[in-house]
Amino acid sequence: MFHQIPKPVLDRMHQLEEIDALDRQDGTPRSQRLRQITPESGRVLAFLAASAPTKGTWMEIGTSAGYSALWLSLAARMRGKTLVTFELLPAKAALAKETFKAAKVSGLVELKNGDARGHISDYAEIAFCFLDAEKEMYAEFYERIGPNLIPDGLLVADNVINHRQNLEKFLSLVEEDETIDHITLPVGKGLLVCRKLT
Ligand SMILES: C[S@@+](CC[C@H](N)C(=O)[O-])C[C@H]1O[C@@H](n2cnc3c(N)ncnc32)[C@H](O)[C@@H]1O
Repeated sequence: MFHQIPKPVLDRMHQLEEIDALDRQDGTPRSQRLRQITPESGRVLAFLAASAPTKGTWMEIGTSAGYSALWLSLAARMRGKTLVTFELLPAKAALAKETFKAAKVSGLVELKNGDARGHISDYAEIAFCFLDAEKEMYAEFYERIGPNLIPDGLLVADNVINHRQNLEKFLSLVEEDETIDHITLPVGKGLLVCRKLT
C-alpha cells in the first residue's frame, strides 16, 4: 500500500501539505483553513482502514480538501472498497472534488456535500469511520455511529489529545461503552481508535 503510492496521489498530497502549512502561518480564517491531519496520522489511518472489515461501509466525516481521504483511498484501493466522505462546506467540497480528480481517485471516493449528521442512519452497517469534524459534534456522532458499527468495525477520531478538554462528553461515552475496546495513539494530535467487540 505504501510502496506504490500512485504519483498523482503523492503530488496532490504534497500540494495540500504545502497549502496547509501556509494556512497555519499566515492567519487564514479558521473556516477557510484546511486543518488537515499530519502525514504520520495519514499513514496510521490507512493502515487501520486496511485492517477493517470489507463488508460494510467505510466513511469519513470531515473531508476538507480531501487530504485524509487520499490516505484512506490507498486502503480502499488495496481492499476493493469505496470511501464515502462528508463535507459540510460547499467551498471545501469543491476543493475536495478537485483533489480526487487530480489524484485520479474519483472511483474510490464518493464525496457527499452536506451535514453528515443527517445521513448516518442511511448506513446500517459501518465497518470503518474516520471522525474529523467539529469537536463539539463528536458525542452526537458517536451516538449515531456506535450502534451501526459492525463487529470488528473501527471508529477512529482525531484531536483527542490537543482537544481533550472539548471532548469530555464524547470520551465518557467511549469509556462507558462496553460494546467497544479503545486505545489512544499519540500520533499527530491524538487518534482514538475504537473497535466494536464481536
Ligand atoms: C479538521 S477538518 C477535516 C480535515 C480532513 N479530515 C483532512 O485531514 O484532510 C474538519 C472538516 O469537517 C467539516 N465538517 C464540520 N462539521 C461537519 C458535519 N456535520 N458534516 C460534514 N462535515 C463537517 C468542516 O467543514 C471541515 O472542513
